[in-house]
Amino acid sequence: MPEQVAIIAGSGLSGMLEVSPSDAAAENAYGMPSSPLYDVTLAGNSVRVLARHGLPHTIPPHRINYRANIECLYSAGVDAVIALNTVGSVTTDVLPGGIAIPDQVIDYTWGREHTFVDSVGEGADHIDFTRPFSASLRASLLSAAAEAEIETGVGGVYAATQGPRLETAAEVDRLERDGADYVGMTGMPEAALAAERGIEYACIAIVVNRAAGRGDKPIHDELEAVSGAARDKAMAVVARFLGRVREG
Ligand code: HPA
Repeated sequence: MPEQVAIIAGSGLSGMLEVSPSDAAAENAYGMPSSPLYDVTLAGNSVRVLARHGLPHTIPPHRINYRANIECLYSAGVDAVIALNTVGSVTTDVLPGGIAIPDQVIDYTWGREHTFVDSVGEGADHIDFTRPFSASLRASLLSAAAEAEIETGVGGVYAATQGPRLETAAEVDRLERDGADYVGMTGMPEAALAAERGIEYACIAIVVNRAAGRGDKPIHDELEAVSGAARDKAMAVVARFLGRVREG
């Protein structure tokens, strides 16, 4: 079991948390994290939370300082991260309003500061990223979901796109041909940076729309209609997961 769990909360989730700033937030060698590291009590369990887009939500996906965020968690002694990422569904295994625990990533982002291994002369540290998400965290999340009686997609490929615009229908067709099941804008380089810092990392994909060209409703209408329900499911899984960590 991890000792120090943190949540990286994404779109819409930060507002659901009652937060009080801790003194852990500070600029680090990689710049300013998106938010302070908040100490939050969630269903009786204390946990640290970083608001990926800032509080209030002001930072678009491609402008997030992922390195500063991961460094902030690392220097605070965090050894496990549950990342909450809203996504569109490319395949129809999990419909909008549902959640999934993906097990793979394809990175389509570009131009983001994506590594801590960045100085010429230090040599390269090629982390093994074969399995981008922690198997044990994923298993705990899936058990927590079962205990909370929340249906969850098991596995699947998270495609990280650059944003901030949503994709074209043809781009989503390509993602599907590539094997993607979910598409979001914030999963990378966050997962890789956590791996570089030796932090266990797993993602709860919160499905808020069908990806472009897949649904019959305008994407934003669907998103408005289902995102609350999907977020509630994710938070229930996180709460049970934290209970399991506390119980050891
Ligand atoms: N594409 C990319 N990112 C997203 C989507 C989407 O359809 N929905 C929520 N985040």
